[in-house]
Amino acid sequence: MAHRAAIVGAGHTRFGVLEAGPRALVRAASEAAFRSVERGARPRDVSEAFLATLGFGGFQIGNSAAMLAEEAGIVGAPVTRVENACASGGFALRAAVESLASGGQSLALVVGVEKMTDVSNARRRFWLGVSGDTEWERLAGLTFAGVYGLIASRYFAEHGDAAEALAEVASKNHENGSLNPNAHFQKTVTRAEVRAAPRVADPLGLYDCCPVSDGAAALLLASPEAARKYTDTPVYIDGTGAGTDSLAVQERGWLTRFRATQRAAHEAFRSAGWHRSDVSFLEVHDCFTIAELLALEDLGFAAPGEAGALTLSGETRRSGRLPVNPDGGLKAKGHPIGATGVSQAYEIFLQLRGEAGHRQVPGAHHALAHNVGGAGATATVSLFSVG
Ligand code: COA
Repeated sequence: MAHRAAIVGAGHTRFGVLEAGPRALVRAASEAAFRSVERGARPRDVSEAFLATLGFGGFQIGNSAAMLAEEAGIVGAPVTRVENACASGGFALRAAVESLASGGQSLALVVGVEKMTDVSNARRRFWLGVSGDTEWERLAGLTFAGVYGLIASRYFAEHGDAAEALAEVASKNHENGSLNPNAHFQKTVTRAEVRAAPRVADPLGLYDCCPVSDGAAALLLASPEAARKYTDTPVYIDGTGAGTDSLAVQERGWLTRFRATQRAAHEAFRSAGWHRSDVSFLEVHDCFTIAELLALEDLGFAAPGEAGALTLSGETRRSGRLPVNPDGGLKAKGHPIGATGVSQAYEIFLQLRGEAGHRQVPGAHHALAHNVGGAGATATVSLFSVG
């Protein structure tokens, strides 16, 4: 029997290079989440909270849960920090669902935050590296762009050159991001510009990479039974799944499939009792463009090697049969590590309530969020519906 919960409020800061520090970002996202609840919710209604953050740059790396309690105005309530690298937000959301399912609580608050842009380039590289395998991969000089570049090369060797499909992922996500006022980048790029951009880790260029961003997002969750006390249009979480893989990619049987994603998807679909054909749109973890192709395959929406053709067919654009990353994805919306998984659920909350403005996916009723930590070592999948 799936554990279910309902999102009744959500808040989001702008993603990008921001003046605000982590405390101010947490406060802004939390206040926006409380403000968004139509029939009102107060900090004192929150019985438990979860903070998703890597602690990039070392800011309050210990006990940051109490910082969230202060900034959200819930001092006294239990708060747990969740750190699973870039998948921290997805795991925090899952923990909140489990917490509500265990009974007794009124509202659960989930906040994701990262402040990444106020450190030097050398320290930035260090902090990006802490979530990969630090004994072998990092000592060998491998960055995340480097790992995903190797994965892309292997994918090309197995399935043929997919450079045009990667360019389409970037172009599509930049177009979606251009319609999202919270996105880090709001400019469009053509496939030709993507392919001509400077190389970062061959075959990946500048536009194949997510940026380094600041930002925060927050969600307020209630039990399905209590949700209509807060709003007429709760967004239900019908199932969640999670998985892990070995930390270092050299320990894995293959480079081009993420077992953590496969396992998380299997659990989420089984627990919700959904079919792939139920899903109106996807929010997937496109930290690098190749990751969007792997996600479509690992989540079961394309056979191995076929995500490129699906992408080039236009079906993953907002007007297509299976829109992917209507908010711009990590690629254009930005990727403040701990905030990303929470931000995906924020977008789904807007879309399923028909509140996504110019980037609205028409008639969206069921959606999937997929959040990955590192180079596929941790992953969550969550399934959402409305009505
Ligand atoms: N996509 C598009 N444009 C980008 C960009 C990106 N990912 N990153 C930077 N830019 C733009 C900047 O806005 C800036 O534009 P401007 O000159 O018009 O102002 C220009 O490129 C240079 O920016 P800068 O910050 O100096 O780039 P950089 O070379 O230091 O960093 C990357 C570029 C790709 C190396 C960096 O964004 C990166 O490391 N991304 C990956 C982050 C990561 O690994 N996250 C974890 C994932 S698992």
